[in-house]
Amino acid sequence: MSSTPADLPTAQQVVDSMERMHGLYPGHRRSGARGVCFKATFTPTGDAAGLTTAVHLQGPPTPVVVRFSNSEGNPRSRDTVPVARGMAARFQLPEGGDTDLVAMTVPLFVASTPGQFLELTEALRPDPATGAPDMSRVQAYVAAHPQLAEAVTQVPPIPVGYGTAAYWAIHAFVWTDAAGNKQPVRYRWEPEAGRAELSAEEAAGRPDQYLTEELHRSLGQRPVAFTLQVQLAEEDDPTHDPAVAWPEQRKEINAGRLEITAPVDDQDHWAAQRFDPTRLTAGTELSDDPVLAFRAGAYAESCRRRSRNR
Ligand code: HEM
Repeated sequence: MSSTPADLPTAQQVVDSMERMHGLYPGHRRSGARGVCFKATFTPTGDAAGLTTAVHLQGPPTPVVVRFSNSEGNPRSRDTVPVARGMAARFQLPEGGDTDLVAMTVPLFVASTPGQFLELTEALRPDPATGAPDMSRVQAYVAAHPQLAEAVTQVPPIPVGYGTAAYWAIHAFVWTDAAGNKQPVRYRWEPEAGRAELSAEEAAGRPDQYLTEELHRSLGQRPVAFTLQVQLAEEDDPTHDPAVAWPEQRKEINAGRLEITAPVDDQDHWAAQRFDPTRLTAGTELSDDPVLAFRAGAYAESCRRRSRNR
């Protein structure tokens, strides 16, 4: 079900609500506040080239900057807890353009519309008496939207490293080929090293920022790489709902390999950037997912506030 203008909140309302949910940390992202950026190279396999004219999915390798993050708004958040991790990638295209792919370590989003997301962030607002969310409000959200139960109860892994988790871009996007034919797709980064996670007990023994330390260490020892797996929709697969997966047996192609090479030289410059899932390039388009379209304004609002040190 798509949002109607009547239930579409403003970006300001949602970002205000995220500040109430996560706390306010001036100068930082309202989600994904603690992060670290790396240089990478993406080498396409060519398997996507017949389905999209997107320049980075054709032949030559493309330089990429990747920002790994924790989903909270607290820039001092700990790595040792099961929160979603983010992987935001900026492909630096030939001739000066760029395109972003923003993904996280769960396959489903917790809301089908921006209005539902606002409801959930309000429900997750810490109770002043306890400092923690009142879980009965979250249960009421699920009771009001039972189709979201699976998405809301997903437990993200505590990965061994940033390079041992899968990251889903969740929404459907639409590829266009040279003849104008359209193919809805969904993206997932699959770690070449395989998925590996820590138990809560194992994680408790790690330093608060072990993920960044682990990635620096790994880079000196072995390649840290991902393949870009792309699921191809069939007729009638819904493209508007980020809380609903497509059937697992849908055809998947490997569109290319991303190898992380080194930390970026200028972390401050990259921390200030806005990665935006709607920053696309020719050959790729937004689907009819209202959450995807809404994110552009919310990210711009968060970026406006943090760039003024609010
Ligand atoms: C209504 C839906 C959503 C809203 C309102 C929202 C809001 C936000 C905001 C305000 C930020 C901070 C942006 C900035 O200051 O640059 C952010 C960051 C982020 N979000 Fe979302 N988000 C939504 C859905 C999603 C989904 C579906 C995903 C995963 C596919 C996702 C992954 C991320 C990641 C990885 C970051 C950190 C990006 C970075 O490193 O710059 N978000 N989100």
